[in-house]
Parts: sequence; structure tokens; C-alpha cells
Amino acid sequence: MAPAVVVSGSGEHPEFEGRITVYVIVCVIIAAFGGLMFGYDIGISGGVTSMDDFLKEFFPAVYRKKQHVLENNYCKYDNQFLQLFTSSLYLAALIASFVASKAVPLFLSEIAPARIRGALNISFQLFITIGILVANLINYFTSNVHPHGWRISLGIAGVPALMLCLGSILICETPTSLIERNKIEEGRKVLRKIRGVENIDDEFDSIVHACEMARQVKDPFRKLMKPVSRPPLIIAICLQVFQQFTGINAIMFYAPVLFQTVGFGNDAALLSSVITGLVNVFSTVVSVYLVDRAGRRFLLLEACVQMLISHVIIGIILLKELKTTADNLTKGEATFVVVMVCLFVMGFAWSWGPIGWLIPSETFPLETRSAGFAFAVSSNMLFTFVIAQAFLSMLCHMQAGIFFFFAGWIVIMGVFTWFLLPETKGVPVDSMVDKVWKQHWFWCSFMADDDLRTDVKVV
Ligand code: BGC
Repeated sequence: MAPAVVVSGSGEHPEFEGRITVYVIVCVIIAAFGGLMFGYDIGISGGVTSMDDFLKEFFPAVYRKKQHVLENNYCKYDNQFLQLFTSSLYLAALIASFVASKAVPLFLSEIAPARIRGALNISFQLFITIGILVANLINYFTSNVHPHGWRISLGIAGVPALMLCLGSILICETPTSLIERNKIEEGRKVLRKIRGVENIDDEFDSIVHACEMARQVKDPFRKLMKPVSRPPLIIAICLQVFQQFTGINAIMFYAPVLFQTVGFGNDAALLSSVITGLVNVFSTVVSVYLVDRAGRRFLLLEACVQMLISHVIIGIILLKELKTTADNLTKGEATFVVVMVCLFVMGFAWSWGPIGWLIPSETFPLETRSAGFAFAVSSNMLFTFVIAQAFLSMLCHMQAGIFFFFAGWIVIMGVFTWFLLPETKGVPVDSMVDKVWKQHWFWCSFMADDDLRTDVKVV
């Protein structure tokens, strides 16, 4: 690929020179194993908890309930300990997020050239979805390996973890992180290597300047509490909370259970999860292509409409057709529910899934980036935990109403996006304050308190 001075999509923001080098691609692939590991963990537990062998061994009460013909359709799996099996992982991740927030999305945003930052960052989400799909496929096959299939499913989770561990030995530190720690020349070398061009002076100067300013902030968490940091912080937290209240993980964790609830047998339910998993992966690819073209806002708003429609339709079908103790849905109705779930997953996968991670990784100024991102990650983990722990009980108590509950949240997040979410497509990471927050009708008022903030000059 020839070196180029690129002007970003909107044409308003100057870009730095740089190519998409093999080195950047290798870093992306290795870093993305983090996504694969996360995705596998998300996808594996729902399938395992729907396997009879596993239930007999660890949750015999749920197994007996499941066999009972007169058991309430919506309540077969309502068991706090069963939910804890899935949710406990996110409690651990919540704690880890405060020390390990420089994880994958932030790393990707720092090494990516701005014009493809969105697409590169979304490769993380793509790997999450591939991880979920692989988990769905493995569950589909191991569910017929009696009685230890579930052990294979859980054991394989170690593979992406090992790859990430080995990969992190090869991976470079970002120029920003090196310069931040005064390894100036090393930072310049790495920047030249990852950009693949000789002239990296403008970008280098911009990073050095940003680091100098960041150094003046002694306590990033305190700085994060200042009014000037509120816009990216509120946006980051809201995006993560909203992402979870779309109801995505009700589907990702519990799709096999949900599909059994509407009347599929074991295998058909697991196969349906494989189908939603495939839709998830392919729709994320659409996002990689569109996010730096159509922009973040358009995708988020379009998906709100799509997800709203599918939740309302699923809610209506269940309300009318799935009674508590009577028969399940007909084959046709149950298949239609799967189609609606696919429509929902499709919308999420090209919008709130990837962009929920992308925006928090690109909107904080350097001095609060890591601390701010930690809040985003921990909000995600906290609300992932909440959904994992509560969904099966909510399904039991609210029945079809749970889908209207998620639909209500989608309306709220659509209004929030429309009025409060600025477009960040093509804006260099270190120019967000001037190019985004200061220009926004609402958030600009927070920028008046300028005394402490580090104003990174746009080169
Ligand atoms: C979310 C996960 C979700 C996944 C689905 C991610 O962006 O953070 O909670 O399971 O998307 O693909």
C-alpha cells in the first residue's frame, strides 16, 4: 500500500501520514484474541446450562423442574444459583477492569490511523462475536457427547486465553504509552514502524504534546470527576449500560434456554443459537465497513428502530401464544421468534455492540483515557452481571413483559442518541475536546471550566 497523507471522511479534520502496515494488522489479530476469549465465555455458559448432563450433576432441582410437564413454561430455569454460574464471571471481570482497563479496545484505538480507527477497533467486537459463535457450535456438538460433553465446552475456554498470553509477548507497546513513560525515542521508533512511513513528525509531536499535558494531571480519577470530563464519562457509561439494556445478553447467554422455553427440543434450541451466532458475526462485518462511512450516530439510531420492532413483535407473540402451563408455541410461531431474534441480533451487531466499545475508547483526552475507559468497562461488566443474574427470574415473573421492558429501554437510548451523542467519525483521538465536545450544543457548557484541562493542539 502506498504511503498517503489522508484527509478523514468528513474532510474537516487533518490526518497524519501512515499506512495500514502488516505490523498494525498483526497487533490487531493478537489483541483480538482478547475478544475471542470474552466471546467464548459469553457464549458457552447458556448452552452448558441447558444440557441435561450438566443440570443433573450440579442443578438437579432445575433438571427435575424441566422434566415436569405442568411446570410454568416461563419459570423452568428460574434458579439464582444457575444464574450465578453465568454471572459470576462478570463479577470477577468487574474487579479486574479497574486494574486492566488498558485492554484491547484502548490499545487498538491508540495504534490505529484515525481514518480506519473505527473499523480496526470493531475487529475486537468481531472477535467477540466469533468467540460466541464458536461456543455455540461447540455446545451443539458436545451436547451429544454423554455424559461429559459440557466438560469439553468449558475446557476449551482455555485455548483463546493461552493464545492471548503468548501473543502479548510479541505485541508492541503503543507509542502513546511509551512516550507517556518518557521512552521518547522508543516511542518514535514504534510509531514509525506501525505507520510504515518515514515522516511521522506531526503525529509524533501531537502525541508528545498530549503526553506532556497528561503528565500535569497527577490524579486522573480526580480529574475525571471534574465537569470538563463529564461529557465523555457520561456518554461512555450510558453507552455501556444501554448496550446491556438492549437485552443482548439475555439472548447471548440464554438463547438455548429461551428457545427451549418457546418449544424447541435440545438440539433445535442449540442449532437456533448457532444461527443467531452466525447472524451476529456477519452483521458485525457490516459494521466494520459502515462505521467510518455512515458514522456512529446513523448506525445506532437505525438499530434502535430495528431492535424495538423485534422486541415488540416477540413480546406480542409470547403474550398471545405462550401461556404459562399450556402447550408451547407451534413450530411456525417458534421459528418466527427465532427470525425476530435474528433481526434483533443483526441490529445490535452493527451498532450498539461495536460502537458501545468504540466511542468510550476514542472520546477521552489522553490524561483521563485510561481511567475513563475503566469506568466504561466496569459499567459493562456490572450490567452484564445484572442481566445474567436477573434475566431468567425476570422471564419467570414478567413473562412476555420482559420484551416490552427491553423495548422501553431502547426508546430511551434512541432519544439519548438523537439529542446527546455527538458524531466522532474521522476525528483524531487527541482532538476530541476541540472538535467534538466544544462544538456540541449541550456538552459545550461543560467545557467552560477550562483551567485544569489539557488542551491538545490540533496539528
Ligand atoms: C457486549 C457483550 C455482548 C456481545 C454480543 C458486546 O459488545 O459487550 O455483552 O454479549 O457484544 O456480541
